[in-house]
Amino acid sequence: MINIIGLGYIGLPTALMLAASGNEVVGTDYNKELVQTLNKNMLTFEEPGLEELFEKANNKGITYTNEYQNTDFYIVTVPTPYDKEDKKIDPSYVIAATNKVLEVCKKGTILVIESTISPGTIDKFVRPLVKKAGLKINEDIYLVHAPERILPGQMIKELKHNSRTIGADSPEAAQKVKDVYATFCEGEIVCTDIRTAEMTKVVENTYRGINIAFANELTKIARHDNLDVHEIIKIANMHPRVNILSPGPGVGGHCIPVDPWFLVGDYPRLTNLISTALEINESMPEMVLDRITDIMKENNITDKNKIGIYGLTYKADVDDIRESPTLQLFEKMEAHFAEPFRVFDPMVKKKILSNQQMNFENFVEESELIVLMVEHSHLKENIDLLNGKYILDTHNLVDDAYKL
Ligand SMILES: NC(=O)c1ccc[n+]([C@@H]2O[C@H](COP(=O)([O-])OP(=O)(O)OC[C@H]3O[C@@H](n4cnc5c(N)ncnc54)[C@H](O)[C@@H]3O)[C@@H](O)[C@H]2O)c1
Repeated sequence: MINIIGLGYIGLPTALMLAASGNEVVGTDYNKELVQTLNKNMLTFEEPGLEELFEKANNKGITYTNEYQNTDFYIVTVPTPYDKEDKKIDPSYVIAATNKVLEVCKKGTILVIESTISPGTIDKFVRPLVKKAGLKINEDIYLVHAPERILPGQMIKELKHNSRTIGADSPEAAQKVKDVYATFCEGEIVCTDIRTAEMTKVVENTYRGINIAFANELTKIARHDNLDVHEIIKIANMHPRVNILSPGPGVGGHCIPVDPWFLVGDYPRLTNLISTALEINESMPEMVLDRITDIMKENNITDKNKIGIYGLTYKADVDDIRESPTLQLFEKMEAHFAEPFRVFDPMVKKKILSNQQMNFENFVEESELIVLMVEHSHLKENIDLLNGKYILDTHNLVDDAYKL
């Protein structure tokens, strides 16, 4: 039986996928409300294809509980934030979950850490716990790191088709874990050692962060000279070996703005490029605020209640708002305005902010300047309703609009 620890954005789809593919699965999360919701046959977040998968897995007998199981296969998918002071990983969730597993596991168990971890985390934090518990590695317990690459919004498709990395101490342990993932994963599964797997995952997200930062820096240069950055990128990308990403209002979510810090925290003297890229991405919400101020001045808009922010999530067509550029923008706002502007997001169904509007038509009607922060499908379908409004378009969706 496979016990998945942590049933969030990564753990739940993984657990469902494993169960739907014929594995015996128990999902464990210490959040009582979350487990109760799943046991009431209700999902805890929205994701294309998740409902069908949930139904299939439930029919196959997956169960959800707050208890850790006595078994021989665990997959840990708990959060791994970074400590904002020292920029290093906060390993406390991984440590807590590992300690619980060590209390209940069978001899010879496999412990897969799927959470993204900074290189060296298993050596520094997990192996000492095993030793302290009096267990022998590669006899009583096998440690494995199998990081996740899926993209919210396309999770189910990507779980099936992405390639994966498995880092283990021995080829035998890697093979056992590979066999389990291969029950649903059709992508290539590469086996390597734990340190390489840890580094690879963090490098992947750092690569993305740096490339986004380059596009964002170009936006600043283009703004300085009043040039159209999108036109520049479009033409540059016609070069056969150039592929510049799209700029935007900042970088959010749980991965790209977080994981590069693991490298900066652990290798401060070797990560000049990475730390500069992080700073550029973090400065983008401030640039949006500066643009809002300019546009307000230019058009004589004096009432900040006439500014409407469209989009609260960190990317299009998901309901996850963690570290989102809009939240970063609100955090930075105090220097410019006393209170945050009004905000609307069709994907965020619960009112979580006092300035949040729940009705799109009212939101549009009451706004003079609308700032497009997230390119939800809903926006593309309703773009005509914005006619007659000033628009600051951070994603190059609307022709006749202010750009970053
Ligand atoms: N969300 C993504 O797009 C994504 C993509 C790739 C990798 N990751 C990585 O996957 C990991 C999980 O991220 P997430 O987005 O699923 O986080 P999440 O916050 O959505 O889910 C984590 C879950 O773990 C539970 N939990 C925490 N500690 C626990 C414990 N000791 N015992 C039992 N349950 C516990 C929490 O209640 C929560 O439900 C992170 O390391 C993240 O970096 C996330």
